[in-house]
Amino acid sequence: MVIHKTKSYRDMSKKAANIIAAQVILNPASVLGLATGSTPVGTYGLLAEYCENGDVDFSNVKTVNLDEYYGLDENNEQSYRYYMNKNLFRKINIDISNTHVPNGKAENIDDECRRYEQLISSLGGIDLQLLGIGHNGHIGFNEPDKVFPLKTHCVDLGESTINANSRFFKSIDEVPKKAITMGIGTIMKAKRIILLAGGEDKREILKKALFGPITPSVPASILQLHNNLTVITSIDF
Ligand code: PGA
Repeated sequence: MVIHKTKSYRDMSKKAANIIAAQVILNPASVLGLATGSTPVGTYGLLAEYCENGDVDFSNVKTVNLDEYYGLDENNEQSYRYYMNKNLFRKINIDISNTHVPNGKAENIDDECRRYEQLISSLGGIDLQLLGIGHNGHIGFNEPDKVFPLKTHCVDLGESTINANSRFFKSIDEVPKKAITMGIGTIMKAKRIILLAGGEDKREILKKALFGPITPSVPASILQLHNNLTVITSIDF
C-alpha cells in the first residue's frame, strides 16, 4: 500500500487525476473503474481539463462504474449515470457507448447483476479502479456485512448510507433503498486501485480500513490485501 498525504482536496484531486491520466497515456485502451459521490468531482474536473488541453485522449478508453441506485433511470438527476454524464463523460472525448453503469431500471435485477459482471470480464477486467469510502466503510455499495460479497449484486442500503445520501434528495423518503453494486471480488480483481478520502469526517473510518482488522464489517478493510493500492488523502491521520 502506498499512501500519499496531500495538503488539500485540490492536491488530492490533482494526484488522482495525474495517475489516471498516466494510465490512459500508457494504455490508451484502458478499462477504468469509476466512482461517484462528492470526493471524485475534483478529479473528474481536472481530467476534463487535461482532455480539453489535448493532453489525454479518451477515445479508446472504456469505463465501468461501481454502482447504481435501483429504480432510477438515467434522466433522474440523482442517478449515477446522470452524475457521470454531467461530471465527466460529456466533458471528455469518450465514446458514450464505451461507458458502462449498471442499469437501475432493469426489469430483472439478478439478470442485470449477472450481465454486468460478465461485461466486466468480457472487457478483460479493470485496469484501474477509483474508489471513495463511505462513513460506514463501504466501497461501491458494499455495506458492512457478515461476508465479503464476491460478484455484482443487489444490496439493501444501510441506514447510515441512506442518511448520508439524503442530502442530494428533496426528502429522505426519495432515497432509493436498493442498489446494484460491483462485489468486493469484482473490485479486488482490478489491477490497480486508487482510494480517495477527503474530509475530516472520514478520518476514523479511514484509519480502521487501512490499519484495523480485515473484516466484512468494514468492507474497505479488504483493500489491505490488494497488491497495488494507492491511497490519496488530504486527511491528517
Ligand atoms: P462521498 O461518498 O464521496 O460523497 O463522501 C463516498 C462513498 O460513499 O463511497
